[in-house]
Amino acid sequence: MKKINHNSFKLISKIPLRQYSGEYRIFHFTGFGNPPKNENDTEINAKKLIIPKTLEATSGISDTLTYRDNVSGNVSKSPPALKNLTNTALLESSSIATTTSKPPVECAEKTLEKKTKKSKCLRPVPRVKLVDVPPDDCNVRKAEIPTVKLRDGHVMPMFGLGTWGAPSNQAERAVKHALKVGYRMIDCAHVYENEEAVGKAINRSIEKCIVKREELFVISKLWNTFHDPHLVMTGCRQSLCDLKLSYLNLYLIHWPMGYRAGDDLIPYDACGRVIGSRVDYIETWKAMEELVERRLTRSIGLSNFNKNQIERIWKIAKIKPVVNQVECHPYLSQKRLKAYLNKKGVVLVAYSPLGAPARPWVKKDEPKVLDDNVIKTIAFNTGRTPAQVCIRYQIQRGNPVIPKSVTPSRIESNFDVANFELSDQEMKILDKLDRKLRFVALSQLSNHPHYPFNDVF
Ligand SMILES: NC(=O)c1ccc[n+]([C@@H]2O[C@H](COP(=O)([O-])OP(=O)(O)OC[C@H]3O[C@@H](n4cnc5c(N)ncnc54)[C@H](OP(=O)(O)O)[C@@H]3O)[C@@H](O)[C@H]2O)c1
Repeated sequence: MKKINHNSFKLISKIPLRQYSGEYRIFHFTGFGNPPKNENDTEINAKKLIIPKTLEATSGISDTLTYRDNVSGNVSKSPPALKNLTNTALLESSSIATTTSKPPVECAEKTLEKKTKKSKCLRPVPRVKLVDVPPDDCNVRKAEIPTVKLRDGHVMPMFGLGTWGAPSNQAERAVKHALKVGYRMIDCAHVYENEEAVGKAINRSIEKCIVKREELFVISKLWNTFHDPHLVMTGCRQSLCDLKLSYLNLYLIHWPMGYRAGDDLIPYDACGRVIGSRVDYIETWKAMEELVERRLTRSIGLSNFNKNQIERIWKIAKIKPVVNQVECHPYLSQKRLKAYLNKKGVVLVAYSPLGAPARPWVKKDEPKVLDDNVIKTIAFNTGRTPAQVCIRYQIQRGNPVIPKSVTPSRIESNFDVANFELSDQEMKILDKLDRKLRFVALSQLSNHPHYPFNDVF
């Protein structure tokens, strides 16, 4: 595959298309991929665009591409500045559309076709080959991590590594390093588009006797385009295949909202709105239960579900959800949701525990958890970093926590939270920082019938 970055794209756009049939990687960011880090980074955010040979005789490549600003809705022929990429979608023009026999795009009716890279695990996903078996003579060092017993009897570490937003090459290095340091839980998801790299790191570490599979707790999540009950098994097998594992420890419904099924992780209509599906997550849950029966995952759970949504699941569930993974940090302590989950025996797993400072939609003037003066003062007084304070805060509240980092020194320091304790008073002070501030709100989906954050909790 040829790679081009935004600047070089401008350059080649003047050259006739015939020289450019084939596969290209073009910056394209929809909010769930990897945010651009710098101008020279051609790997990050690169999506594959396939320019078919059948188009060779037509006009210049510049005719075939259009960009849409998802915020303003403006459509333009020229590539946006790198800093504006976050909200930009790449539209394919009519000349590409003709090859797929699509009539011209009409707002609200037509959907955008994007060619996305399929993983090596082609759908339907083949049976998973067992590769997560360590050599016989492995003598693995046991890591001491506090654990919590889930309501189905399985044991989950209180601490793990997040992988959202980590480009594949960095994710692989980060997971390898984390496993060496002693992490035993990795939080993954199909939509993070790096499960193959994470799987490589896990399997390499098993082969090298750094960790045994049975010591590991691997989480993955069913993406919104797989909510149809017939697709749930496919979604799970896809992740297993990418991760090269024979089973998951925990598989979650990533969000209560379903999206239109298909290759686009986030399908948009011509007006830039996400295309939802009518599938009720109740039906999705029933198919999730089958995954446990088929031993593709040991436990199943939820993510981003509100109280009423959990109640609905509870009523029909043969296998009850063991966790609800939600955003949780000192600015969003989730006190009421936690109290409700405690009563049900469901564990609250804290995501974005550091306030997701690198979220792609971050605004300059938004408060930053790690810059909070109170947190900084507690960090200073305890001789710890603000990140360690935030992580320790969750552990002491009984919430397993999954901070993400691809930086070796941070991977190490974030892990080093076992040997200090926040006092009751410090915990109370941190509790008081709650301002119900949600950083991962997906508010553009607030009209979806299953959007979770219109309820109080
Ligand atoms: N279920 C869901 O819908 C959902 C949603 C969001 C997140 N999650 C999961 O939760 C994980 C964690 O959440 P998150 O990634 O949103 O955010 P987070 O863990 O709150 O923050 C991660 C960011 O903080 C930086 N960081 C890490 N350690 C640091 C330290 N010691 N000092 C300063 N900065 C530090 C990281 O930078 P570097 O990587 O550059 O070091 C990264 O940019 C995700 O990766 C994902 O696995 C799940």
